[in-house]
Amino acid sequence: MNTKTISKVSESETPPAEGLGEAVIQNNLDYTLFSWSKQKGIAPIAVKHAEGVYLYDYDGKRYIDFSSGLMNVNIGHGNQRITDAVVKQMQEVSYVTPSCVTKVRGELGKKLAEICPGDLNKAFFTLCGATSIENGIKLARLYTGRHKILTRYQSYHGASYGAMTASGDPRKLPMDSQQAPNFVHFDLPYLYRWDYGEETLLKEAIASLERVIAYEGPGNFAAILLEGESGSSGCLKYPVGYLKAVREICNKHGILLIMDEVMSGFGRTGKWFGFMNHDIVPDMIAMAKGLTCGYLPFGCLMVSEKIAAKYDDTMLALGLTYSAHPVSCAAALETLKIYEDDNLIENCVAMSQYVNEQVEFLKQKHPSIGDFRNTGLLGCIELVKNRTTKEPMAPFNAKPDEMAVMNKVAAKIKELGMYTFVRWSYIFIAPPLCVTKEQIDEGLNIISEAIKVADESMLS
Ligand SMILES: Cc1ncc(COP(=O)(O)O)c(C=O)c1O
Repeated sequence: MNTKTISKVSESETPPAEGLGEAVIQNNLDYTLFSWSKQKGIAPIAVKHAEGVYLYDYDGKRYIDFSSGLMNVNIGHGNQRITDAVVKQMQEVSYVTPSCVTKVRGELGKKLAEICPGDLNKAFFTLCGATSIENGIKLARLYTGRHKILTRYQSYHGASYGAMTASGDPRKLPMDSQQAPNFVHFDLPYLYRWDYGEETLLKEAIASLERVIAYEGPGNFAAILLEGESGSSGCLKYPVGYLKAVREICNKHGILLIMDEVMSGFGRTGKWFGFMNHDIVPDMIAMAKGLTCGYLPFGCLMVSEKIAAKYDDTMLALGLTYSAHPVSCAAALETLKIYEDDNLIENCVAMSQYVNEQVEFLKQKHPSIGDFRNTGLLGCIELVKNRTTKEPMAPFNAKPDEMAVMNKVAAKIKELGMYTFVRWSYIFIAPPLCVTKEQIDEGLNIISEAIKVADESMLS
């Protein structure tokens, strides 16, 4: 028997302004679940409003957002142009089935075709990163008639079953026994933890990839799926020339190349897409995040004309009730205009250089900074216990008791008025692309102050 008292939403109590923040947090803790976290002992920021690079809580405390949310709010928070575009679209029509069309859907497809290279001209609209990846995997299998998908250990492609299995991120380990079949992973070391120089790294990385393909049967691979640039795994860069060599391997064996640009896309790395830093053209691009910058959930799988043509006379076996949602299309179209009107990609390139210069100064001040890896404004500082041994401040997939120092660093960052992504030994520097030099200084000063905690831990 249901013994709950059901209140009308409009009647739910409004706590007095004082203490409202705590009440908001309590309601969330009592009635909602939090991703990737044990549910007890968390202290989320209750965000009342957000503008530009700043979040504000209910007590008026300001936090500089140095990870653009989850590396998605590239244009910055609170841009009213998106609100207006969304309202206008909702006033006209909020939903049509994917078999009907709208003005915004066609215009958005055209705009995406313009910014994508080669013959990547056909957009299949999805809901988020994971649904773009799932549909990419499915289409690669349908198109090639092959079953295996090859991906990189440590990468992250989403939390649905296929995308999670494709990932090499340890967040999938709790459901290890439930992994989807026919995914193969390969290792790609990164330069900071490779002692033999970049040229050898490139050679060995390509040779080992070729070996994996040979062992698993080249004719079995539908696609190689790679991030345009690694993000949450620690901005682990590809050796120069690597993606070009992968493209050639794909061509040789008839394997499709899918680039996951969910995090690295839309100006984040100083180009429209991360792979453009490597002078290649993939067969499909999975997009989400920066496409609507989090104003609404949305995603897209961009497909080459060559692949799309196969479905001119054959059913395309992909579908989502909310594919090409008109309101999300309107938000995306306006977002793309903002990148251009506000020169955000150009600003990203300029601010990237400034960040790189300033972090060099931080390295001189802080012995615990082992490495800094950055492309555009997708960067992270890696903290170490010892610069010679490079022992990380917290290991890969650190257990809670291995996070003691990093948890203190993260707490200090928050206390000093910053929101950013701190994972294992990594502190992310990925502010919105509209960030200014003054705001970068403000953020790096906070990080510098917080890193003192790690420096001190090296002495004990
Ligand atoms: C590279 C990459 N791919 C896919 C995803 C999954 O996107 P979503 O969380 O929107 O499903 C993410 C999310 O962080 C990502 O970083």
